[in-house]
Amino acid sequence: MVGVSYVFLLKITLIRALNNEMKSNQLFMLNQRFRFTNILFPPFFLVSLIVNIYISYESKINCIQRVILMKIWILHNTTYGNGKKVAETLGDVLGKKNDVKIEHIKNVSPEEVVKDAPDAIIVGAFIRAFMLSGASKRWVRNLKSSLKKSNKAIKYGATFLTHAMPDNMASGWGKRFNKTLQRGNVITNVYPEWLSGRVAKPEGPLSEGVLETITAKGADLIEWMK
Ligand SMILES: Cc1cc2nc3c(=O)[nH]c(=O)nc-3n(C[C@H](O)[C@H](O)[C@H](O)COP(=O)(O)O)c2cc1C
Repeated sequence: MVGVSYVFLLKITLIRALNNEMKSNQLFMLNQRFRFTNILFPPFFLVSLIVNIYISYESKINCIQRVILMKIWILHNTTYGNGKKVAETLGDVLGKKNDVKIEHIKNVSPEEVVKDAPDAIIVGAFIRAFMLSGASKRWVRNLKSSLKKSNKAIKYGATFLTHAMPDNMASGWGKRFNKTLQRGNVITNVYPEWLSGRVAKPEGPLSEGVLETITAKGADLIEWMK
């Protein structure tokens, strides 16, 4: 009975050790050393059980670390809620396997974001009276100075805009905002496209199909970041 249980336990150990790669290997070897004593002497069986539980705990931690691939901040500067919707839709896609934080630029300083050392940053802005929101541009500039000061970089960056003009007309503002993010090279790779959150009326709602396109672009962003 003890022998059968032990073989079963050993199998589990093997699977878990393989799952957990190197770290658990040492524990597995340790467990192996007790192999015969375990069968003959029940207290060692208990030791084996404890080792197994520990490996299981370690594997879980490792799995969580492997599943959460990146830390991503999504910042918006919404007035009427459209930018927030775009940010949340992106967050839904990116957040499936990553740690995503969404905030209004008023509520989080660039310094706080830099301190958090994200892998990627996505910043939103709006166009009003044919101008890009100054607050978003300032936030990005302050982020870059803060990164430079602390001698850090963010690996990936992307932008989105909310606007009422057709996409091709808003494109110039989008490209310029992308350049603002790119200049200085502290955000190492900037997604070549800006994402469009076009509104149907000046205060919203978002035009038909916008959130579906944002979802698709979010999936593409993940692929691009790989
Ligand atoms: C007073 C006013 C001026 C606007 N001017 C423009 C404009 O010049 N070009 C444009 O594409 N959209 C314009 N819009 C639409 C805004 O881009 C839109 O309200 C905003 O992007 C919505 O985003 P939010 O809900 O996140 O604040 C204007 C909206 C308002 C209320």
